[in-house]
Amino acid sequence: MTKAKSGLKIAIAGLGVVGSEVARQLINRHGDLATAAGQSLDIVAVSARDRSADRAFSLDGIDWYDDAAQLAARDDVDIIVEMIGGSEGVALDLARASLSSGKHFVTANKAMIAHHGTELATLAEANNANLMFEAAVAGGIPAVKTLREGLAGNQINRVAGILNGTCNYILSTMETTGRDFDEVLADAQRLGYAEAEPSFDVDGIDAAHKLTILAAIAFGHQPDFNAVSIQGIRDVSSVDFAYANQLGFRIKLVGVAEPGLMPRMQTCLLPLNSQLAKVNGVLNAVEFHGTPVGSVLTVGPGAGGGATSSAVLSDLIDIAAGRGGLAFGKPVSQLADSSAVKNGAGPDKPFYVRLMVVDQPGVLATVTAILQKHDISIEGLLQQGRAPGDVVALVMTTHETPVASLKKALDEMEDLPIVKAKPVAMPILLADSEG
Ligand SMILES: NC(=O)c1ccc[n+]([C@@H]2O[C@H](COP(=O)([O-])OP(=O)(O)OC[C@H]3O[C@@H](n4cnc5c(N)ncnc54)[C@H](OP(=O)(O)O)[C@@H]3O)[C@@H](O)[C@H]2O)c1
Repeated sequence: MTKAKSGLKIAIAGLGVVGSEVARQLINRHGDLATAAGQSLDIVAVSARDRSADRAFSLDGIDWYDDAAQLAARDDVDIIVEMIGGSEGVALDLARASLSSGKHFVTANKAMIAHHGTELATLAEANNANLMFEAAVAGGIPAVKTLREGLAGNQINRVAGILNGTCNYILSTMETTGRDFDEVLADAQRLGYAEAEPSFDVDGIDAAHKLTILAAIAFGHQPDFNAVSIQGIRDVSSVDFAYANQLGFRIKLVGVAEPGLMPRMQTCLLPLNSQLAKVNGVLNAVEFHGTPVGSVLTVGPGAGGGATSSAVLSDLIDIAAGRGGLAFGKPVSQLADSSAVKNGAGPDKPFYVRLMVVDQPGVLATVTAILQKHDISIEGLLQQGRAPGDVVALVMTTHETPVASLKKALDEMEDLPIVKAKPVAMPILLADSEG
């Protein structure tokens, strides 16, 4: 699908953290990138809101547009690089206009691909253009390429990932310092690891956008954000880290996708010796399980100008070299309808459960009677008594349990006078089972 061999003309919409770094790389490393791409990659036009802002590169010889949509109207532009963000609005208008006019489209916009990926991939195919979004998933980790190309000969059985560096930083810091969520979030905001409005990150939405994309490529269905179950990290308390540790686990926000099952973004417990449990701080990781390959772990920086521009540049080089390929690895007509994955909670799983109970005789018997009634068996138990009458934590791990049964049991327990706070439950993700 390579166009003119004399060089590709690029327009960049959005010159923030990622867009300006992409521009600086294209300018400062022009010769190296031309060698890698087999032809030169030349920025001819850019768009952002504030023309006077210093972008740390020269705009000499580059046309400026206040209206990003006009980039798609330029006949000489081969590739539009969209680095604005947002699932709707100007980014989506630009994607539609660019692909409709046969321009290749490179984006880091996971929200837009998770919501509109099918429509945009259809437009790309119809107009013989490439839709590329390596930078949309796990920043500098080539997760899309790994699935679409490196593991193309495998049957993928599971994809599991730590897909949001902000959440991983918060959880890692809560564990190592014993501090509470609000305090660590405020620190993360001060350090620039979390946005002033953090809900996209801490409520699991950003990571679920990425999981939507990975699931679609891994299992050959249309991306559908509404078919992902999402839970964030706000409910985790600092005490849970210590209990999880005593039981041999670490708490992480992990996205899990398996064939035919609803992808799940969930705060869960991982065995301390599992590969994902060792990925701490702002790092991202994606673990692919396939046949015949087995388990493949990729780890790296999931955000920031450097990591994200690396992924954008690899998309540009692939387009230039004629390796753009199909957005989701196969023609849209061959992607299954996403209703194929909207089928419930998945197989039974073990759970970690924490109850805050009054320390008095008979508590354990009352709780275990409820568990028994719902056919839930306890695998491990931690109870730290203080003085009779105090509120203490009663922590249990269960054997494989249907989610619906656990929910009924927890609802019943919450109503008990001896239970003093909403019970906390998190699935335990064992290496060779599901989460
Ligand atoms: N930051 C990361 O680490 C990271 C990682 C992976 C993916 N991404 C994705 O990359 C994309 C860009 O993120 P970012 O962090 O670089 O965002 P950012 O720093 O906020 O930059 C956004 C850019 O878009 C421009 N913009 C906003 N509205 C516009 C409009 N209507 N027309 C033209 N330009 C407009 C802004 O212009 P002004 O500069 O003039 O205000 C700014 O240059 C998003 O989709 C994000 O999800 C980011």
